Amino acid sequence: MTYALGFDVYGTLVDPAGMQRHLRPLVGDLTERFAVLWREKIIEYAFRRGLMGKYENYTVCTRHALLYTLQFFKVELSSHEQESLVAEYQNLPVFVDVVNGLRRLKAQGHYLVAFSNGPELAIRNLLSRAGVLPHLECVVSVDDLRTFKPSPTVYVYLARSVNRPLSETWLVSSNAWDVIGAKAVGLKAAWIKRSSERVFDPWGIEPDLIVQDLVELAAHI
Ligand code: LAC
Repeated sequence: MTYALGFDVYGTLVDPAGMQRHLRPLVGDLTERFAVLWREKIIEYAFRRGLMGKYENYTVCTRHALLYTLQFFKVELSSHEQESLVAEYQNLPVFVDVVNGLRRLKAQGHYLVAFSNGPELAIRNLLSRAGVLPHLECVVSVDDLRTFKPSPTVYVYLARSVNRPLSETWLVSSNAWDVIGAKAVGLKAAWIKRSSERVFDPWGIEPDLIVQDLVELAAHI
């Protein structure tokens, strides 16, 4: 059996911790905490905008989350420094297993796409710089619907975009909330547990597969 696989991008294909390299010269010892809060706020802002029906794209969420994080840590950066940080969020390093894993999955006959909260152009740039884009058929972005994961509509849209029934469409994500969102509407889902420390939300909705990386995914799907 072959499937369509929609890969979450941030944290699944590319590593947001790569931002630390750009943050360190600007925020020094705050780097780790700054990077964590910034990422958490981006996700929170997308959740809230989705719920409120006040859509602004993920790049705007990224910029607003940066402003919050700067104020929280009482750090002042020039607008040029701020914009270059936001731009670097589209220049993150790929996880080492990704290209190998995607090659194997493609060789098995699966149909592979990126599926992200980010706008299509930003995601294409990011994945192209990271060397991942050639291994994917296309980018499916929630931006087309002007709402965010985990709205049920975006997972149904993924299945429709790849022209498969829900039950033959997988979400592949390192984000537990994303996996739960996909499972809740009837997709299959793999949780990429990139660290043994990660905890899956105890909602009684379980992933179909839990693997460490994409190479392991190719071995088990
Ligand atoms: C994405 C974020 C949520 O790529 O990781 O959709």
